[in-house]
Amino acid sequence: MLMLRGVSKIFGTLEDGAFQIRALDDISLEVREGEFFSIIGPSGCGKSTLLRIAGGLIPLYNGEVRVGGERVEGPHPWIAMVFQEESTFPWRTTLGNVEFGLEMRGIGAAERRKKALEMIRLVGLSGFEKRYPSELSGGMRQRVAIARALVMEPKILLMDEPFGALDEQTRIILGEELLRIRDKLGQTILFVTHNINESVQLSDRVMVMTARPGQVKTVFKIDLAHPRDSTIIASERFGRLVGQVWGTLREESLKGFEQMEKRD
Ligand SMILES: Nc1ncnc2c1ncn2[C@@H]1O[C@H](COP(=O)(O)OP(=O)(O)OP(=O)(O)O)[C@@H](O)[C@H]1O
Ligand SMILES: [Mg+2]
Repeated sequence: MLMLRGVSKIFGTLEDGAFQIRALDDISLEVREGEFFSIIGPSGCGKSTLLRIAGGLIPLYNGEVRVGGERVEGPHPWIAMVFQEESTFPWRTTLGNVEFGLEMRGIGAAERRKKALEMIRLVGLSGFEKRYPSELSGGMRQRVAIARALVMEPKILLMDEPFGALDEQTRIILGEELLRIRDKLGQTILFVTHNINESVQLSDRVMVMTARPGQVKTVFKIDLAHPRDSTIIASERFGRLVGQVWGTLREESLKGFEQMEKRD
């Protein structure tokens, strides 16, 4: 469904070579149709960069991105994104935010409203249609951002730490709801997180990245049953998987810290 092959990225130009940063080095991955695929790695290893490349928002240096087998350069209509930082429009209500993309697509007012209201219901925000983001909690704003992406009926959802700013309980519940929505709508999801528990709770596979320049270190298969709810976190198998992911990630996190100290 979504394939990255040999993707590398260097920031900075040759003229100011001293400022070049090798962000990604030869990353290849393939996300299958309907799969929930997570990427985890140390801070600064290139996760957001990788997701932006997959979404066609920034150019790559080497390699290729394929969606449904076709090589793409630039944004693709099958793909919607939810970003790491808050990405709702403060001057639009919940409804206005969710309708935005449909407006841009030129869809008529009645149909727009119907689709947006349905999606607002699906993410659990019925009753808050007329509220502005400033009147909502952080978790609710992220629900708005998710509804805004889902209403475009993307086949592929790219999510960059969508729950990163939330408290743990909200994060677990929203994750559970995301899985429920995914089971209903059947999207393919590429999900970036720095939370090990979250990656195991939600994913079919988890890819661990190395410290910068980001490379693929290991891909874990998460063979926990579906449909899956958050009670899974109490299971022994869950604990073992979390331990395995951390066992692989630990070394890279330490390297990541060393890199940061060197830069200061
Ligand atoms: N536009 C840019 N120009 C120059 N360097 C950049 C740019 N965007 C990212 N970088 C650098 O590329 C590296 C990877 O950044 P990226 O944001 O992809 O990391 P990340 O894994 O998402 O980190 P985090 O976990 O903190 O979100 C970092 O060293 C960062 O400083
Ligand atoms: Mg990031």
